[in-house]
Amino acid sequence: MKSVHVFFISICFLIHLPALGNEIPQYAEKMHMGVATCASGVCHGSIRARSATNVLQNEFVTWSRLDPHSNAYNLLFNEDSRRIARNLGLPNAHEAGVCLDCHADNVPIKRRGPKFQLSDGVGCESCHGGSESYLSSHTDPNQGHAQNIEDGLYPTDDVVARANLCFSCHMGDQNKIASHEIMGAGHPRLSIELDTFTALEPPHYLVDSDYRERKWKEDSVVVWAVGQLQAARKTVLLIEEHLSNRDDRFPELSLFDCHACHHPMSDIKWQQKRTVGLPPGSVRLNDAGLSMILPMVEVLMPEESRTFVTLSRNLHLASSKTIGLARSLEELSIFLDGLEEKLNLISERSKDVMLEILKMGQEGKFRDYVAAEQAVMALDLLLQANGTRGRSENWLDVLYATVENQDRYNPLAFQKAMQGSAGL
Ligand code: HEC
Ligand code: HEC
Ligand code: HEC
Ligand code: HEC
Repeated sequence: MKSVHVFFISICFLIHLPALGNEIPQYAEKMHMGVATCASGVCHGSIRARSATNVLQNEFVTWSRLDPHSNAYNLLFNEDSRRIARNLGLPNAHEAGVCLDCHADNVPIKRRGPKFQLSDGVGCESCHGGSESYLSSHTDPNQGHAQNIEDGLYPTDDVVARANLCFSCHMGDQNKIASHEIMGAGHPRLSIELDTFTALEPPHYLVDSDYRERKWKEDSVVVWAVGQLQAARKTVLLIEEHLSNRDDRFPELSLFDCHACHHPMSDIKWQQKRTVGLPPGSVRLNDAGLSMILPMVEVLMPEESRTFVTLSRNLHLASSKTIGLARSLEELSIFLDGLEEKLNLISERSKDVMLEILKMGQEGKFRDYVAAEQAVMALDLLLQANGTRGRSENWLDVLYATVENQDRYNPLAFQKAMQGSAGL
């Protein structure tokens, strides 16, 4: 028992589970009262945005009409879900815990209040936390944001906490994962970039002067960079949880790059430059979550860039064995802690990071689709942050076209498109 405990503590240390106070809503203690308790017309269910209070008050309408999360449960009845369930041998998808864990607010029955409905899908409390203890008090104008958080409101404005929340479903966590079995049954591949997805949701909040005062001056470069750091940590966690702790004959294949295996034999990949240093025929990890770390390191701690290249190569090499994997993960985690300390400079250096990504692209370093996809999303938001997106729109269109279809991704075409940039 004792050793299990020590093991758990060392894992927490290693992978930076959020502090207990910030446990993601699905696992925290509080009761979830249901979307209906938030949605009254005088609360968050106003038809139009209002200005009487600090918040818009039409969050429910935005969520129910525009946000895909309100449909996350309903889609478990559609043809695709029925086929996935059938292929997995499940009676149906809408009652299967494995689907509900990401497609609804699947808290245990004893934490569901009288108005709670699973059919709300990914509702307010899936992200904002069970409202048991803040529901009646959070409207008090004298009660500050810090007190609400103490009462169980999840700090979605804290970027680290937000990343952990979104990634728990969009990448997986210690308890749930879109496994290769689910993928093989027909589930789409998951990918996320925090800032792009925050914008796509779409946001139901306005970053105005009172927001900045109450919370923070939301900065998309910081959201992107912290998102990348947390995605790297999540990659470490998922490998730790679902790869190195298992002794199945086949490892969890969803942790590897789908396109490492799923590509036609005629599509010979050794023609292109290798970046991870694996021998031919190896299965590469899905390192989407690590792919944007190098350009940040090159700018923020250039003297460490060789170390990072070595660490990530070691991880790739160790991923096919059990020996050495734990150490490799630990070294990478420590490295990421070092990067975190430099992230306060990210906004002022964002142009250099953008140019670094461009340079890597022009040198053909984005051999894998998942990394190219991250590079395009990054360039889009970094151009925006540097005020030069407008004049690069045509070029961005060309870039997006190269990653539009994952099955037809061609690294040489991507490299060429990167070389076609003009005057960033
Ligand atoms: C680890 C979390 C996770 C699990 C487990 C999971 N899903 Fe999903 N699923 C997602 C996310 C996130 C998306 C959205 C992906 C995107 O668009 O980026 C999604 C998308 C889908 C889609 C496509 C939706 C669309 O709009 O086209 C279907 C269908 C689906 N899931 C069904 C299922 C079924 C059935 C199960 C159970 C067997 C399941 N999912 C399990 C997270 C999960
Ligand atoms: C997928 C996650 C998610 C869901 C679902 C969600 N929110 Fe949010 N919400 C966020 C994020 C992220 C923010 C922005 C960060 C912040 O200010 O906390 C936010 C901000 C808010 C704000 C703060 C606005 C401000 O000015 O401070 C309110 C109010 C809010 N949401 C209400 C709701 C309500 C009501 C629902 C359900 C109808 C809901 N949210 C559903 C993620 C979510
Ligand atoms: C409880 C699980 C869960 C959490 C937490 C969650 N999502 Fe999702 N998200 C989903 C599922 C499931 C879908 C697919 C819904 C659909 O297709 O209708 C989805 C879809 C999306 C989409 C649409 C993707 C597309 O391809 O169009 C965006 C954008 C998104 N989520 C952003 C976020 C952000 C940002 C956060 C964190 C603030 C977040 N999500 C948190 C489960 C979750
Ligand atoms: C180590 C190699 C490997 C990796 C990595 C891998 N797969 Fe697979 N995949 C297989 C094999 C082997 C099969 C079963 C053979 C078959 O049906 O073609 C399979 C089957 C599938 C199928 C069903 C195909 C069919 O025709 O029925 C899908 C869909 C799928 N994988 C998606 C994915 C996705 C998405 C990823 C990445 C998250 C991924 N795979 C990663 C080897 C891999």
